[in-house]
Amino acid sequence: MDFRSFLCCTGGLDRKEKEKKESTWRIFSLKELHAATNNFNYDNKLGEGGFGSVYWGQLWDGSQIAVKRLKVWSNKAEMEFAVEVEILARVRHKNLLSLRGYCAEGQERLIVYDYMPNLSLQSHLHGHNSSDSLLDWPRRMSIAIGSAEGIVYLHHHATPHIIHRDIKASNVLLDSDFKAQVADFGFAKLIPDGATHVTTRVKGTLGYLAPEYAMLGKASESCDIYSFGILLLELASGKRPLEKINSTKRSITEWALPLVYERKFSEIADPKLNGNYVEEELKRVVLVGLICAHNQPDKRPSMLEVVQLLKGELKEKFAAVENDEMFTTGQAADCNDEASVADDSSSFISEDKERIQEIEKAT
Ligand SMILES: Nc1ncnc2c1ncn2[C@@H]1O[C@H](COP(=O)(O)OP(=O)(O)OP(=O)(O)O)[C@@H](O)[C@H]1O
Ligand SMILES: [Mg+2]
Repeated sequence: MDFRSFLCCTGGLDRKEKEKKESTWRIFSLKELHAATNNFNYDNKLGEGGFGSVYWGQLWDGSQIAVKRLKVWSNKAEMEFAVEVEILARVRHKNLLSLRGYCAEGQERLIVYDYMPNLSLQSHLHGHNSSDSLLDWPRRMSIAIGSAEGIVYLHHHATPHIIHRDIKASNVLLDSDFKAQVADFGFAKLIPDGATHVTTRVKGTLGYLAPEYAMLGKASESCDIYSFGILLLELASGKRPLEKINSTKRSITEWALPLVYERKFSEIADPKLNGNYVEEELKRVVLVGLICAHNQPDKRPSMLEVVQLLKGELKEKFAAVENDEMFTTGQAADCNDEASVADDSSSFISEDKERIQEIEKAT
């Protein structure tokens, strides 16, 4: 199958738009990507996610790339892959990691991106960059607002609208100025439906899953907003979404809510900030994070509202958030409620996991 000829025939783009896109986006040969990544050398590996491994590489012109080598593919769906990548390649926004191109040769399916020199938010909050403490408060605020703006674009302006489904700290990459670039949006669509897809969603991202998504498996914009709420709490506190306490797991919301009841925002702030943050902004990030991660989807704000709230623009709405019963009613009642829902969802997830393991064994 020659994708080039197929893609040349896809309508919908006017010439100017097409030229602009073509200057930044193209099809790569497998040979070129082998050369760029030193044959997908282990030393070039940036990490591994649910869809495959990511390698650092350098092209003949000196530019640095990140190549995602998909580990699962079905032979039949080559055309589908090309169409979906083409759709994703059209999505351009200052806070979304854009695709540089792809390669589909034989069994190989690879996606090429610009390499982000400051790696991911995950690496700065919890990984090997965390000891450098490069995330000061202004950078954190800009990452919070920037990534929210990227998601607004996906939810409200991209055609068709895109649900990310996997918002988390490792999917927020940081460019040379620490500007947020949300990655892997719409990625689930590139993987054929079925067991592998379910497996990747459940693995590794537990702490970010909205309870209704974990229980019913139905993705929506609202699930993205829940995950983004968790990300905001993580960004403010430096804590992981789920922490092991003895043999049980405590979610970041369960940890933060009691502190919010007592208005102890300074205890929520990441100790790595050494008290250097703007109190009003920290409070905003924490309260917006918690309201986004509300167990009831209809209580969550839209991403458009999230951006405005984070910027301090919706004063009345923010006052309403601040007075929400979630933050004012009796500590024990709400806390237990939250914990029981978390318990429920994790038991659903483990059932799901068992089912997936069965599917994996069968395939
Ligand atoms: N363009 C890039 N520049 C720099 N690092 C990147 C780039 N793309 C991905 N990475 C890093 O490579 C690692 C693997 O990425 P990958 O997307 O495969 O896994 P993930 O983000 O952990 O999980 P998921 O598969 O759910 O997205 C991550 O640490 C990610 O931050
Ligand atoms: Mg990723």
